[in-house]
Amino acid sequence: MKADNTSPFRMARRAAQMNPSVIREILKLTEQPGVISFAGGLPAPETFPVEAMREACARVLRDAPQAALQYAASEGYAPLREWVAADLGRHGLRVDADQVLVTTGSQQGLDLVAKVLIDAGSTVLVEAPTYLGALQAFAPMEPRLVGVAGDGEGPRIDAMAAAARAADARFFYLLPNFQNPTGRSMGEARRAELVAQAEAIGLPLLEDNPYGELWFDDPPPTGLAARNPDGVIYLGSFSKVLAPGLRLGYVVAPRAIAGKLLQAKQAADLHTPGFNQRVVHEVIRDGFLDRHVPTIRARYKAQRDAMLAALDRHMPPGVRWNKPAGGMFLWVELPAALDATRLLPRAVERGVAFVPGAPFFAEGPQANTLRLSYVTANAAQIETGIAALGAVVRVALEDVA
Ligand SMILES: Cc1ncc(COP(=O)(O)O)c(C=O)c1O
Repeated sequence: MKADNTSPFRMARRAAQMNPSVIREILKLTEQPGVISFAGGLPAPETFPVEAMREACARVLRDAPQAALQYAASEGYAPLREWVAADLGRHGLRVDADQVLVTTGSQQGLDLVAKVLIDAGSTVLVEAPTYLGALQAFAPMEPRLVGVAGDGEGPRIDAMAAAARAADARFFYLLPNFQNPTGRSMGEARRAELVAQAEAIGLPLLEDNPYGELWFDDPPPTGLAARNPDGVIYLGSFSKVLAPGLRLGYVVAPRAIAGKLLQAKQAADLHTPGFNQRVVHEVIRDGFLDRHVPTIRARYKAQRDAMLAALDRHMPPGVRWNKPAGGMFLWVELPAALDATRLLPRAVERGVAFVPGAPFFAEGPQANTLRLSYVTANAAQIETGIAALGAVVRVALEDVA
C-alpha cells in the first residue's frame, strides 16, 4: 500500500488494519455546542483528585527529584508494583510484585499481549460486543477475530466452547465486570463455569478489569485470573479510579509469558513515566483509594439511577435496556427495524448524542443497539437528553411503521 501516489513510502500490510476509530469520528460530530453527549467514554472529571495529586507531585519533587526524572526500570517502580500485588491479593489474586508489569495505561497491556500472542491468521475470541480499543489493538497483528455470542450475563459457555473447538484460538478477551460497552457483569456461576471450561479445553483467557472497583451495591464476584492464575493474563488500570491522563495500568501474566511481555514493553517505550508512577504511589500508599473510590461509586450510581428513570419515562414500548450494577455504561436495544447509526444524526440535531453499537462487534454487528454513558452528564442533562432521544426513536418508529 502506497502512502499516496507521490510518496516514496510504502506502508506495511498491518497499516491497512489501522482504521480511524469510528468512535472518534462520532465524537467529532457530537462535540458541538449545545449537544448533551452520552457518547464519550470519559470518566467524570469532577472525580479527579486534583489536590491530592498536587501535593503528591510536590512531595516527589522534594524527596526524589532526580530519580523521578531519570530513566527507570521497564518493569515499573518497585513500591507501586508491591502496592498492586498487595491490592490484587485483597481481591483473591495472589501474585508476587515481580509478576506485575506497569504499563502506559491498560491499553498498552492490550497492545503488548497482542504482539506477544497473535500471529497473522491466528484466531482470537472476543465478546460480542466488546471494547473497541481492544479490537484496534489486536487488528494490526492480523488475527481472525471471532465474536462469542452472549446474554445479559456475558458470553455463553456453549458459544465459547464451539468457537474454541472450531479454531485453535490464542486467547479469549473478556471483561467480566461492568463491561464496555454493555455494562453487563458475569455472575458467580458463569465465572466459575467459564474458567473451568476454558481450562478444560486449553483456552487461555485475557481478563481486562478497568471498571471492577466501580460497583454500586455489592462488589463483583472473584475475578477470572484469581480462579486460574496459570491460564489467565490480567489487565488493571488507574484510569477509572484516579485519572486517565496519568496513563497508568498494569499486566499480571503467568511467568512463562511475563518475560516476553517485558521485552515487548522495553521495545515499545522503555518504561512508563517514572514520575507518574511515583506520584500515584505517593497518592495511594496510605489507603487513599479506600476513601476516594466510594465517592465515585456514589456519584455514578446516582447518575445511573437518573438515566434509568429517564429511560422509563421517555422510551417508547419495544425499546429495551439493562440495569448495570456498576461502571459507566448502559446498553440499549431498539426494535429490530431501527438502525442506531442512522438515528445518530437526527439525535444530534435534537441535541443529544450516543454511540451506535455496531462498531463494538468484531463480526455480525447488531445495528439496533447503542451505548449510553451516564457519568459525564448531570441529572438535569440526563432528563433532557433522554427525553430528546425518546422523541427521536418515536419518530423513527413511525417512519418504519
Ligand atoms: C475495557 C477497557 N479496557 C481498557 C481501556 C483502556 O484504559 P487505560 O489505557 O486508560 O487504562 C479502556 C478505556 O476506556 C476500557 O474501557
